[in-house]
Amino acid sequence: MSICYLNGGFVPRSEARISPMDRGFLFGDGVYEVIPVYGGRAFRLDAHLARLERSLAGIGIANPHSHAEWADLVQRLVAAHHWPTQAVYVQVTRGADTVRNHAFPQDLPPTVFMTADALAPIPAEQLERGVSAVSAADNRWLRCDLKTTALLANCLLRQLAVEQGCAETVLFRDGFLTEGSASNIFVVKNGVLLAPPKSHLMLPGITCDVVLELAARHGQATEVREIREEEVHAADELWLTSSTKEVLPITQLDDKPVGAGYPGPVTLAMIDWFVQARREECGA
Ligand code: PDD
Repeated sequence: MSICYLNGGFVPRSEARISPMDRGFLFGDGVYEVIPVYGGRAFRLDAHLARLERSLAGIGIANPHSHAEWADLVQRLVAAHHWPTQAVYVQVTRGADTVRNHAFPQDLPPTVFMTADALAPIPAEQLERGVSAVSAADNRWLRCDLKTTALLANCLLRQLAVEQGCAETVLFRDGFLTEGSASNIFVVKNGVLLAPPKSHLMLPGITCDVVLELAARHGQATEVREIREEEVHAADELWLTSSTKEVLPITQLDDKPVGAGYPGPVTLAMIDWFVQARREECGA
């Protein structure tokens, strides 16, 4: 049975109820986090909670909990489930109003919802052969740095991939790489790892930061700079990162092989470094 946390208490997820007047439901007026848990321990919890704080501040919701309170809630939620590997979802909305009104209501208690699901290991075949992706114009709003629950554009963009039997949609704005519909994207060219600079056009991914950290630690040449669309199509290697997909090779883009069409040496090294890092940090 899945247990969730809603506004102060832990209840079976099937029994949790929120008001249809919740601004998260009416307007997508909320923010969220997805935190991976390995061996019962949340990976990079502090970074996730710091980003939650930034997202809340970015949309003008007072953080309802201290860092220690959040950490305690995450731990209790994780302990309520037997899966060693989980994805914890945290959502805070501006709360349930009495009328539908775009303007922020005063003194409304936010809705806090947390749930956990088993996080399946990445299938060996996907790691060995990579996944396929399509590309599309990034037509989202200009605050993609905030992790808001208003994800309709991301869902529509992801669906483009799904309808073509692909795993992800790689997004370009004005001819430059931004990110994936639910991931960050890395390029390898001539042995150099390329990543777009953080800006309001992309989510500052926690896994992205881990990858940049690991590249520096292991002496992998890296450039953080604007990446032109043509460079992505001419990449030797390509991968995506996210809290649920870790480091996942993309070996086909728009029906064409990426590089040789299988995960390259930098990708394979990064996957190893990543698994090692999370084992070190979470002991799993
Ligand atoms: N999404 N960019 C977007 C648009 C995302 O939605 C995500 C993650 C990322 C990667 O961020 P991180 O490494 O911190 O998970 C980048 C989560 C997993 C989701 O919406 O389910």
